Amino acid sequence: SYYTENYRPQFHFSPERQWMNDPNGMVYYNGEYHLFYQYHPNGITWGPMHWGHAVSKDLIHWEQLPIALAPDEHGMIFSGSAVVDWNDTSGFFDGKSGLVAIFTHADTYPNSDSPRQRQSLAYSKDNGRTWEKYEGNPVLTDESITDFRDPKVFWHKETNQWVMVLAAGQTVRLYTSPNLKDWDFASEFGENQGSHQGVWECPDLFELAVDGNPNHKKWVLFVSIGDNPAYEEGSRTQYFIGSFDGKTFTNEYAPEETLWVDKGRDNYAGVSWSDIPQEDGRRIYVGWMSNWKYANVIPTKEWRGAMTIPRVLSLKTTKDGIRLVQTPVKELQVIRDKAIFLNSEIITPNENILSNELGNQLEIIAEFELDTATVFGFKVCKSAYEETIIGYDTEKREMFIDRTKSGDSSFHESFVGVHNGNLVPQDNKVKFHIFVDWSSVEVFGNEGELVITDLIFPSPESNQIELYAKGGKVKLNSLELYMLKSIWS
Ligand code: FRU
Repeated sequence: SYYTENYRPQFHFSPERQWMNDPNGMVYYNGEYHLFYQYHPNGITWGPMHWGHAVSKDLIHWEQLPIALAPDEHGMIFSGSAVVDWNDTSGFFDGKSGLVAIFTHADTYPNSDSPRQRQSLAYSKDNGRTWEKYEGNPVLTDESITDFRDPKVFWHKETNQWVMVLAAGQTVRLYTSPNLKDWDFASEFGENQGSHQGVWECPDLFELAVDGNPNHKKWVLFVSIGDNPAYEEGSRTQYFIGSFDGKTFTNEYAPEETLWVDKGRDNYAGVSWSDIPQEDGRRIYVGWMSNWKYANVIPTKEWRGAMTIPRVLSLKTTKDGIRLVQTPVKELQVIRDKAIFLNSEIITPNENILSNELGNQLEIIAEFELDTATVFGFKVCKSAYEETIIGYDTEKREMFIDRTKSGDSSFHESFVGVHNGNLVPQDNKVKFHIFVDWSSVEVFGNEGELVITDLIFPSPESNQIELYAKGGKVKLNSLELYMLKSIWS
């Protein structure tokens, strides 16, 4: 039956059947979180793109809905966003409010096979259940740019207009509009800024408080960069921090410095939800949990592609400057099942204090105090022949996921590996917050200063858990280990 197949995510969103890539059009409206996604309904590899659709009341349990947008005379439906047009600026809603999707139509020039990408609109008067394409499509074109896609639109209240951030080759372009139909070029950002190791895709631009202070805000620009055979990391997402005046984004960091959203391999094209109510105030996002390097060949059969867990974005001042912080949404606590709590244990190389625990849908929250151990952490999805290690290296001061022996990796030569990022101990302590599902591991280091997201393809019987230390001992100050319920049963 559905959602029990080998490798099927138990608490991450994946489509019932067929291929999925980027999350699209995420918007909250009338009590529902909408998640649209790049979808190929007729195959499990990338193909003619549609927008698949699901809704949730709690960000955790999803109801699958029919395809929202299908290819038409203007081409395939590539990535984009959706907004609530509260004041009917578009005129689509007879003075009421409704949903407008802003997406890329992808086809080829007439009598030619060169690709053409143009921005278009669709609107829904019934909470996203049915969609009408705008008869004036496309609404934004530029024949001078080939890669011209993935519009992310938001209402900028200070200047009383819509703002679109759009990927254009290896920069982003900003456009403004009073009504979502007429767009004016405002500015371009990206030349000699950040990483240019691939084509720029799926931007997002939003404001966040620094250290939770509503009087100290910065703008954050997300830019995903596509796979390039010259770089082993494949597709990944960078971010910039700066200011935005309604027309121009200004990076406040050294232009050559690249800040990465995730140090794992499998978090791409992430963008945030629009119209989260002000009293909630969170900036929530999901990414596509895969990598263009091998996305088309991962060893799932009935579907391909899953989203990360929903995460809250914030900004924190560190010794290196302001940095992005990600934490799992608190709603995930509803799927906690059987739990184990431990305090003040000394972990040594000789013993696994979790040897009685079995499971492969897990949440682990652990705080360690550094001691003589050089490496410590958890081995999950473990059996005599497999393991995925989520550890901390005290000499390098790095947290890592080691998927070298995590299970099936035969489908692509660059899948095996160790992925790590710097994590400075706080008062000699480090914290892990881990989510393990049937084919993924996500680890949040300290309070989400470092995130590593990796796919894994272990055998279902690899369900042992080990708490380990190497080269000495480490103190486990506290551990919460939860078995998680499936969101599909
Ligand atoms: C990113 C991306 C987008 C594009 C979509 C096509 O993964 O390449 O730039 O709109 O996928 O499916």
